[in-house]
Amino acid sequence: MKFKIGKGEIKAYIVINGAKKFEKYAFEGKDGEVLFLPERKKIYVGIEKINAENLKTATASIIKALKKYKFESVEITPPNIKDKDLLIAFFEGFLLGDYEFDKYKSKKAKHPVKEICINSKRKFDEITKEAEIRAENINFIRDIINSMPDEITPAKLAAIAEEVALKNNLECKIYDENYLYENGYYAFYSVGKASKNPPRLIHLSYKPENSKRKIVLIGKGLCYDSGGLSLKPADYMVTMKSDKSGAATVLGIIKAASELKLDIEIHAILGAAENMIGSNAYKPDDVLKAKNGKTIEVRNTDAEGRLVLADCLCYAEENIKDFDKIFDFATLTGACVVGLGEYTAGIMGFNKNQIEEILKTSEKTGEHFAYLPFNKYLSKLLKSNIADICNIASSRYGGALTAGLFLSEFVQNKEKWTHFDIAGPAYVEKEWGYNPHGASGFAFDTVISYLKSF
Ligand code: BES
Ligand code: ZN
Ligand code: ZN
Repeated sequence: MKFKIGKGEIKAYIVINGAKKFEKYAFEGKDGEVLFLPERKKIYVGIEKINAENLKTATASIIKALKKYKFESVEITPPNIKDKDLLIAFFEGFLLGDYEFDKYKSKKAKHPVKEICINSKRKFDEITKEAEIRAENINFIRDIINSMPDEITPAKLAAIAEEVALKNNLECKIYDENYLYENGYYAFYSVGKASKNPPRLIHLSYKPENSKRKIVLIGKGLCYDSGGLSLKPADYMVTMKSDKSGAATVLGIIKAASELKLDIEIHAILGAAENMIGSNAYKPDDVLKAKNGKTIEVRNTDAEGRLVLADCLCYAEENIKDFDKIFDFATLTGACVVGLGEYTAGIMGFNKNQIEEILKTSEKTGEHFAYLPFNKYLSKLLKSNIADICNIASSRYGGALTAGLFLSEFVQNKEKWTHFDIAGPAYVEKEWGYNPHGASGFAFDTVISYLKSF
């Protein structure tokens, strides 16, 4: 699908706040609501309030509605707004709405619309270019997450990262299970040791000349989370291919940042492993030593993401000097989904200003984040009688926060760190807004916008 200037076979109209009245039709102009009149070659979509989320949803809805027909081009006049971010969202929505995961279907999805024709005297080249880079990378992230666990093993994820690095001129280091074991990353190593597909620590770096700032992005890459010996019940295990969402997201972000030529040094660290069962599996009652020397009592092997991330955080702080920020992204806890619902991610950390900046950016990109505040009482719940810390809290309450607090024990530069728990919105088994069933690519847009103004 391409953007071009000119006329198209069918005309699309954005109806803002019910501005146009349709007496004959039951069309109220709700966000993303579509009125399609194919015989008149017109399609209308509602927006109640102009913001990035609604613009992306509106243009995505146009494409979804046109899929059943054979129109190859659609013409639209972009809304009369100056804000570049909103215009990017407007164009991005078309490409996000066209996404369908049909890799495993014998009959492939139809993509009838080949051209989005812009009917305007204004120039949009720079904006459509950025919208294309963003949407392509979101769809790249979605593809990785949606692909089945037997296909995307830790080694395969490493191969994908290497391919990206080669194409986009990034540095890429890949460390295997022997490296993890020999260098004392026992927490990470242990999570992956039952699987026939061994773990990988993947470190990509993008180093533009004369960059003044440096950021580290860490992603949980559980290519499968069966729960391990603390096995998940059958209903909860389904969708756990999506436990690699954090890793896929940071890979998409560093790829996009290099394509957008952002002026920031970026490090992406992907902790890839499979949490499986077997006689070689790590066990509840094991005590594991992380790279920073802290010992961890394992009481539940399903709280594995924090073990992988603990060692990834240690790796980052030992190997990357003088960074300005360190963010981690993880489908870390069911508790975060229970608390905030499926459409909102939790963000945690000690630097309130940093969190405020992220929240402000997310308002511009139309993604939902909520700040979850730590407190000293919750920290105490991670005490262990036999080791330095326990991998689960002693209380059933506040699980997203106690997981975040666990991670904080492996961070030295606490003021530079923010933790993103994306367990809810990363993967939803129904369409929502501009997102398809399955992987969403959540957090990508907010982080890219954050990096642009960083
Ligand atoms: N990968 C899961 C968290 C998750 C749950 C992601 C639902 C997406 C949707 C994580 O590894 C996990 O199993 N966490 C446990 C922690 C518990 C054992 C303390 C959980 O949330 O139940
Ligand atoms: Zn788990
Ligand atoms: Zn997990």
